[in-house]
Amino acid sequence: MRTPARVFGAGRLVRDVIVVPRVRRSWYLRLRRPHNLFQPHNDTSLDRYPELFRFLQEQLRDGPDVRLLSFGCSVGDEVFTLRQYFPSASITGIDISAGNVRACRRRQRRSRDDRMSFRQAGSTTTEASASYDVVLCMAVLRHGDLGAQQAPSCGHRLSFFAFEPTAADLARCVKVGGYLVIEHSNFRFGDIKVSGAFEVVLRRPRSAADARGTPLYGPDNTRIDNVETLDVIFRRL
Ligand SMILES: C[S@@+](CC[C@H](N)C(=O)[O-])C[C@H]1O[C@@H](n2cnc3c(N)ncnc32)[C@H](O)[C@@H]1O
Repeated sequence: MRTPARVFGAGRLVRDVIVVPRVRRSWYLRLRRPHNLFQPHNDTSLDRYPELFRFLQEQLRDGPDVRLLSFGCSVGDEVFTLRQYFPSASITGIDISAGNVRACRRRQRRSRDDRMSFRQAGSTTTEASASYDVVLCMAVLRHGDLGAQQAPSCGHRLSFFAFEPTAADLARCVKVGGYLVIEHSNFRFGDIKVSGAFEVVLRRPRSAADARGTPLYGPDNTRIDNVETLDVIFRRL
Protein backbone atom coordinates (compact mmCIF):
# COMPACT_ATOMS: atom_id res chain seq x y z
CA MET A 1 0.00 0.00 0.00
CA ARG A 2 1.19 3.54 -0.74
CA THR A 3 1.52 5.08 2.70
CA PRO A 4 2.41 8.81 2.90
CA ALA A 5 5.84 7.82 4.31
CA ARG A 6 6.53 5.57 1.30
CA VAL A 7 5.42 8.21 -1.18
CA PHE A 8 7.56 10.79 0.62
CA GLY A 9 10.56 8.38 0.63
CA ALA A 10 10.19 7.70 -3.09
CA GLY A 11 9.89 11.45 -3.76
CA ARG A 12 13.07 12.12 -1.81
CA LEU A 13 14.92 9.41 -3.73
CA VAL A 14 13.83 10.87 -7.08
CA ARG A 15 14.96 14.32 -5.94
CA ASP A 16 18.36 12.94 -4.78
CA VAL A 17 18.86 11.10 -8.08
CA ILE A 18 18.26 14.38 -9.89
CA VAL A 19 20.31 16.74 -7.73
CA VAL A 20 23.05 14.61 -6.07
CA PRO A 21 25.57 13.33 -8.63
CA ARG A 22 26.84 10.59 -6.31
CA VAL A 23 23.35 9.15 -5.78
CA ARG A 24 22.69 9.41 -9.52
CA ARG A 25 25.88 7.45 -10.27
CA SER A 26 25.00 4.66 -7.87
CA TRP A 27 21.49 4.29 -9.35
CA TYR A 28 22.99 4.33 -12.81
CA LEU A 29 25.23 1.38 -11.78
CA ARG A 30 22.30 -0.46 -10.20
CA LEU A 31 20.30 -0.20 -13.39
CA ARG A 32 23.13 -0.81 -15.85
CA ARG A 33 24.70 -3.64 -13.82
CA PRO A 34 28.16 -3.70 -15.42
CA HIS A 35 29.97 -7.03 -15.43
CA ASN A 36 31.27 -7.96 -11.96
CA LEU A 37 29.40 -5.21 -10.11
CA PHE A 38 29.22 -5.78 -6.37
CA GLN A 39 28.07 -2.92 -4.11
CA PRO A 40 26.47 -0.25 -6.34
CA HIS A 41 26.19 2.32 -3.54
CA ASN A 42 29.17 4.59 -3.20
CA ASP A 43 28.87 5.71 0.43
CA THR A 44 32.26 6.56 1.84
CA SER A 45 33.87 9.01 4.25
CA LEU A 46 37.26 10.18 5.40
CA ASP A 47 39.03 8.02 8.00
CA ARG A 48 36.23 5.49 7.92
CA TYR A 49 38.34 2.64 9.38
CA PRO A 50 40.85 4.31 11.75
CA GLU A 51 41.77 1.10 13.64
CA LEU A 52 42.59 -0.70 10.41
CA PHE A 53 44.56 2.22 8.96
CA ARG A 54 46.53 2.57 12.22
CA PHE A 55 47.27 -1.16 12.22
CA LEU A 56 48.68 -0.95 8.69
CA GLN A 57 50.69 2.14 9.58
CA GLU A 58 52.26 0.23 12.49
CA GLN A 59 53.15 -2.75 10.28
CA LEU A 60 54.66 -0.87 7.33
CA ARG A 61 57.21 1.89 7.22
CA ASP A 62 56.14 4.67 4.86
CA GLY A 63 58.29 5.44 1.82
CA PRO A 64 58.17 6.17 -1.91
CA ASP A 65 58.55 2.45 -2.70
CA VAL A 66 55.42 1.51 -0.69
CA ARG A 67 52.43 0.77 -2.96
CA LEU A 68 48.82 0.75 -1.78
CA LEU A 69 45.67 -0.15 -3.68
CA SER A 70 42.14 0.91 -2.77
CA PHE A 71 39.81 -1.36 -4.75
CA GLY A 72 36.31 0.14 -4.93
CA CYS A 73 37.55 3.60 -3.98
CA SER A 74 34.26 5.42 -4.69
CA VAL A 75 34.95 9.19 -4.87
CA GLY A 76 38.40 8.85 -3.29
CA ASP A 77 37.94 9.39 0.47
CA GLU A 78 39.82 6.17 1.23
CA VAL A 79 42.75 7.16 -0.98
CA PHE A 80 42.95 10.67 0.50
CA THR A 81 42.76 9.15 3.99
CA LEU A 82 45.57 6.71 3.22
CA ARG A 83 47.67 9.68 2.16
CA GLN A 84 47.42 11.02 5.73
CA TYR A 85 48.73 7.71 7.11
CA PHE A 86 51.33 7.16 4.36
CA PRO A 87 52.61 10.58 3.23
CA SER A 88 55.14 9.22 0.69
CA ALA A 89 53.50 6.04 -0.63
CA SER A 90 52.23 5.55 -4.13
CA ILE A 91 48.44 5.01 -3.95
CA THR A 92 46.15 3.66 -6.65
CA GLY A 93 42.36 3.83 -6.56
CA ILE A 94 40.20 1.60 -8.74
CA ASP A 95 36.44 1.84 -9.12
CA ILE A 96 33.96 0.31 -11.53
CA SER A 97 32.13 3.65 -11.94
CA ALA A 98 33.55 6.04 -14.53
CA GLY A 99 31.80 8.93 -12.76
CA ASN A 100 33.42 8.07 -9.43
CA VAL A 101 36.83 7.88 -11.08
CA ARG A 102 36.28 11.30 -12.70
CA ALA A 103 35.39 12.72 -9.27
CA CYS A 104 38.61 11.19 -7.81
CA ARG A 105 40.70 12.74 -10.56
CA ARG A 106 39.18 16.18 -10.01
CA ARG A 107 40.12 15.94 -6.33
CA GLN A 108 43.60 14.78 -7.24
CA ARG A 109 44.12 17.77 -9.56
CA ARG A 110 43.08 20.13 -6.78
CA SER A 111 45.47 18.44 -4.32
CA ARG A 112 48.34 18.29 -6.87
CA ASP A 113 49.33 14.88 -5.49
CA ASP A 114 51.18 13.12 -8.29
CA ARG A 115 51.78 9.94 -6.26
CA MET A 116 48.11 8.98 -6.61
CA SER A 117 46.44 7.48 -9.63
CA PHE A 118 42.88 6.39 -10.41
CA ARG A 119 41.55 3.88 -12.85
CA GLN A 120 38.15 2.62 -13.91
CA ALA A 121 37.92 -1.19 -13.72
CA GLY A 122 35.71 -3.92 -12.28
CA SER A 123 38.61 -6.16 -11.22
CA THR A 124 42.38 -6.18 -10.75
CA THR A 125 43.16 -8.57 -13.58
CA THR A 126 45.42 -6.06 -15.38
CA GLU A 127 47.48 -5.29 -12.25
CA ALA A 128 50.89 -6.98 -11.93
CA SER A 129 51.23 -9.94 -9.58
CA ALA A 130 52.79 -9.29 -6.15
CA SER A 131 52.97 -5.56 -6.83
CA TYR A 132 51.22 -4.01 -3.79
CA ASP A 133 52.22 -3.84 -0.13
CA VAL A 134 48.56 -3.40 0.80
CA VAL A 135 45.35 -4.12 -1.10
CA LEU A 136 42.22 -2.76 0.57
CA CYS A 137 38.74 -3.87 -0.39
CA MET A 138 36.34 -2.18 1.97
CA ALA A 139 32.54 -2.34 1.68
CA VAL A 140 32.82 -3.53 -1.94
CA LEU A 141 32.23 -7.31 -1.98
CA ARG A 142 28.70 -6.91 -0.68
CA HIS A 143 25.27 -5.63 -1.66
CA GLY A 144 23.21 -3.36 0.61
CA ASP A 145 19.94 -5.06 -0.37
CA LEU A 146 20.99 -8.34 1.27
CA GLY A 147 21.02 -6.82 4.75
CA ALA A 148 17.92 -4.72 4.09
CA GLN A 149 16.02 -7.83 2.97
CA GLN A 150 17.62 -10.19 5.52
CA ALA A 151 17.87 -12.50 2.53
CA PRO A 152 18.39 -16.22 3.33
CA SER A 153 20.33 -16.60 0.07
CA CYS A 154 22.22 -14.03 -1.97
CA GLY A 155 22.10 -15.31 -5.57
CA HIS A 156 19.58 -12.69 -6.73
CA ARG A 157 22.14 -9.94 -5.97
CA LEU A 158 25.63 -11.48 -5.72
CA SER A 159 27.17 -14.89 -5.97
CA PHE A 160 30.13 -16.69 -4.47
CA PHE A 161 30.92 -17.62 -8.06
CA ALA A 162 31.77 -13.92 -8.74
CA PHE A 163 33.36 -13.32 -5.33
CA GLU A 164 35.91 -16.13 -5.57
CA PRO A 165 37.83 -15.01 -8.69
CA THR A 166 37.61 -11.35 -7.69
CA ALA A 167 39.03 -11.97 -4.21
CA ALA A 168 41.62 -14.44 -5.55
CA ASP A 169 42.81 -11.81 -8.01
CA LEU A 170 43.09 -9.18 -5.26
CA ALA A 171 45.21 -11.71 -3.35
CA ARG A 172 47.43 -12.26 -6.40
CA CYS A 173 48.36 -8.56 -6.41
CA VAL A 174 49.73 -8.64 -2.82
CA LYS A 175 53.50 -8.90 -2.30
CA VAL A 176 54.87 -11.66 -0.10
CA GLY A 177 54.75 -10.17 3.40
CA GLY A 178 52.11 -7.64 2.26
CA TYR A 179 48.54 -7.25 3.46
CA LEU A 180 45.07 -7.89 2.07
CA VAL A 181 42.26 -6.09 3.90
CA ILE A 182 38.68 -7.22 3.31
CA GLU A 183 36.09 -5.44 5.43
CA HIS A 184 32.27 -5.45 5.23
CA SER A 185 32.01 -8.34 2.80
CA ASN A 186 29.07 -10.73 2.33
CA PHE A 187 31.57 -13.55 1.76
CA ARG A 188 34.61 -14.82 3.66
CA PHE A 189 38.08 -14.80 2.16
CA GLY A 190 38.79 -17.84 4.35
CA ASP A 191 36.29 -19.82 2.24
CA ILE A 192 38.43 -19.63 -0.89
CA LYS A 193 41.41 -21.78 -1.72
CA VAL A 194 44.04 -19.05 -2.09
CA SER A 195 43.48 -17.96 1.51
CA GLY A 196 45.82 -20.84 2.41
CA ALA A 197 48.71 -18.63 1.22
CA PHE A 198 47.81 -16.00 3.87
CA GLU A 199 47.75 -15.79 7.66
CA VAL A 200 45.08 -13.87 9.54
CA VAL A 201 46.71 -10.96 11.36
CA LEU A 202 43.61 -9.04 12.45
CA ARG A 203 40.37 -10.59 13.62
CA ARG A 204 37.51 -8.68 15.23
CA PRO A 205 34.25 -9.55 16.94
CA ARG A 206 31.19 -9.60 14.70
CA SER A 207 28.62 -7.18 16.08
CA ALA A 208 24.83 -7.35 15.83
CA ALA A 209 25.06 -4.43 13.39
CA ASP A 210 27.47 -6.44 11.19
CA ALA A 211 25.12 -9.43 11.22
CA ARG A 212 22.12 -7.26 10.32
CA GLY A 213 23.80 -5.02 7.74
CA THR A 214 26.22 -7.46 6.14
CA PRO A 215 24.93 -11.04 6.37
CA LEU A 216 27.46 -13.72 5.47
CA TYR A 217 26.96 -16.26 2.68
CA GLY A 218 28.85 -19.48 1.99
CA PRO A 219 30.06 -21.07 -1.27
CA ASP A 220 26.47 -22.31 -1.92
CA ASN A 221 25.12 -18.72 -1.61
CA THR A 222 23.10 -19.53 1.51
CA ARG A 223 23.33 -17.45 4.67
CA ILE A 224 25.67 -18.53 7.43
CA ASP A 225 24.47 -17.55 10.90
CA ASN A 226 26.11 -17.71 14.32
CA VAL A 227 29.48 -16.39 13.20
CA GLU A 228 31.13 -14.60 16.11
CA THR A 229 34.35 -13.22 14.65
CA LEU A 230 35.43 -11.73 11.34
CA ASP A 231 38.88 -12.09 9.78
CA VAL A 232 39.76 -8.71 8.29
CA ILE A 233 43.50 -8.40 7.60
CA PHE A 234 45.52 -11.17 6.00
CA ARG A 235 49.31 -11.28 5.48
CA ARG A 236 50.73 -13.08 2.49
CA LEU A 237 53.12 -15.85 3.49
C1 LIG B 1 30.34 1.54 -0.49
S1 LIG B 1 31.54 2.05 -1.65
C2 LIG B 1 33.01 1.76 -0.72
C3 LIG B 1 33.96 2.92 -0.76
C4 LIG B 1 35.18 2.78 0.13
N1 LIG B 1 35.92 1.59 -0.16
C5 LIG B 1 34.80 2.82 1.57
O1 LIG B 1 34.69 1.78 2.23
O2 LIG B 1 34.55 3.92 2.08
C6 LIG B 1 31.55 0.66 -2.82
C7 LIG B 1 32.27 1.01 -4.09
O3 LIG B 1 32.59 -0.19 -4.78
C8 LIG B 1 32.52 0.05 -6.15
N2 LIG B 1 32.45 -1.25 -6.84
C9 LIG B 1 31.45 -2.17 -6.85
N3 LIG B 1 31.80 -3.24 -7.58
C10 LIG B 1 33.06 -3.01 -8.02
C11 LIG B 1 33.96 -3.75 -8.82
N4 LIG B 1 33.67 -4.97 -9.33
N5 LIG B 1 35.17 -3.22 -9.10
C12 LIG B 1 35.51 -1.99 -8.62
N6 LIG B 1 34.69 -1.23 -7.86
C13 LIG B 1 33.47 -1.74 -7.56
C14 LIG B 1 31.29 0.95 -6.30
O4 LIG B 1 31.30 1.67 -7.50
C15 LIG B 1 31.43 1.84 -5.06
O5 LIG B 1 32.11 3.03 -5.35
